[in-house]
Amino acid sequence: MKMWSGRFRQPLNPEFEHWQRSFEFDKRLLTHELGASNAHAHALREAGVLSSDELITILQGLEKIGELTTASPAFLEDPEAEDVHHFVEKQLVALVGDTGYKLHSGRSRNEQIATDLRLYVRTVIDQLRTDLAEFGYALVDCARQAKDAVMPAYTHMQRAEPVLVAHWLLAYLEMFLRDAERLADCRWRLNVCPLGSGAVAGATLPLDRRAMAASLGFGSPTANSIDATSDRDFILEFVNSLSILAMHLSRWAEEMILFSSQEFGFINLPEAYSTGSSAMPQKKNPDLLELTRGKAARVIGCATALLVTLKGLPLAYNKDLQETQEPLFDAADSMLSLVPLVTKWMKAVTFNYERMREAAQSGFINAWAAATYLVQRGVPFRLAHEQIGRAVQICLEKQCELQELSLEELQSLNPVFDRDFYVCLSLESVLSVHDVAGGTAPARVQQALSAVEERIKSICEEVHAHA
Ligand code: ARG
Repeated sequence: MKMWSGRFRQPLNPEFEHWQRSFEFDKRLLTHELGASNAHAHALREAGVLSSDELITILQGLEKIGELTTASPAFLEDPEAEDVHHFVEKQLVALVGDTGYKLHSGRSRNEQIATDLRLYVRTVIDQLRTDLAEFGYALVDCARQAKDAVMPAYTHMQRAEPVLVAHWLLAYLEMFLRDAERLADCRWRLNVCPLGSGAVAGATLPLDRRAMAASLGFGSPTANSIDATSDRDFILEFVNSLSILAMHLSRWAEEMILFSSQEFGFINLPEAYSTGSSAMPQKKNPDLLELTRGKAARVIGCATALLVTLKGLPLAYNKDLQETQEPLFDAADSMLSLVPLVTKWMKAVTFNYERMREAAQSGFINAWAAATYLVQRGVPFRLAHEQIGRAVQICLEKQCELQELSLEELQSLNPVFDRDFYVCLSLESVLSVHDVAGGTAPARVQQALSAVEERIKSICEEVHAHA
């Protein structure tokens, strides 16, 4: 039986009927639909609509549906179900008879889908935060293994200053920790329960909304029934958070691809996550990284589709909202499969520290430190900058580095240059100049690593507390 056929004199056009269904994709919400239905059934009992026996019958039926689904995915192949709500009602009635029809008393699919989707997003957030913590630990391990290895940092993609490899990896950790925090923030805001909102104006029965919310782990019931049934902001926030995460992963992938090219030679691509070329026998291609970049486009597309779907909708429920599900699922699936893979990639990658160090020792990467030497001897920075610039010019002509200039050459630029200048040009002293919180001096990087580890640990603890 359809959920709404009474007022219709003509049958639906079969092609249209098929086309407007959502069961093909919303069947994945089944466990949440069963959970929400369970909460509603208890509220119906409290409101005196169901007897205790009827409640037990319905609860057992719902449980059975869960079991049948776990036992065989074929159970979900229903040629008639319009959506997951219809499917559950049909199966319930098949299992327990007409009592099953009582479950829909005082509720609407509009509040049900809003509830199921919140429960779904909440579950995915918890999983992704766990996955991001794992990825974070993999980055921390790489950073610790790198010890005091050095590489150039780039601005404008030109060698700028030497940094610890660990400092570079910590930059990515900041990005991914922000992503985990954004997801937590999104979770906090979405954690309210639409049950009891009815179709738009509120339930038609005296249902205990607080009890329903509490039994599903929501912080409270939603405040307004019109908003509750039409709001999909939580999906927008979630998928936009995912698109920022995807963009971060894409930037990370881009840099790994670049650094694995023969021109850089900083990174040895792990064979288990690379592919060959059918034409060129020498090739080892960074496919995992390239697809990571590609997935970002897809997730950003989903976020855009959602915003455009919502922008013209009057209050409250409109069927357009059904179209928010597939971009949500697609974005979630993309990230759920990607984050564990990049973690494995990170665990398998090796760095060519020699090459990185060589690159950090040439190209006048110590020029700012050289100017700082003069500043510490009382030379105004603008003049120091100019004088070191001239020193660089001499080096370019002679094809050498700053530390290879003679003291006489240096003193012709400024008599304050002395022997200790050469000491301050070494890689180690250039690094230790950056001795501020957040800087690349080795002691600071050690502190940063411990701080980051604490943050990852608290993400794990928070997710654990929700479970
Ligand atoms: N399948 C629908 C959706 O995903 C469920 C809600 C249907 N509500 C309605 N009034 N037709 O949006």
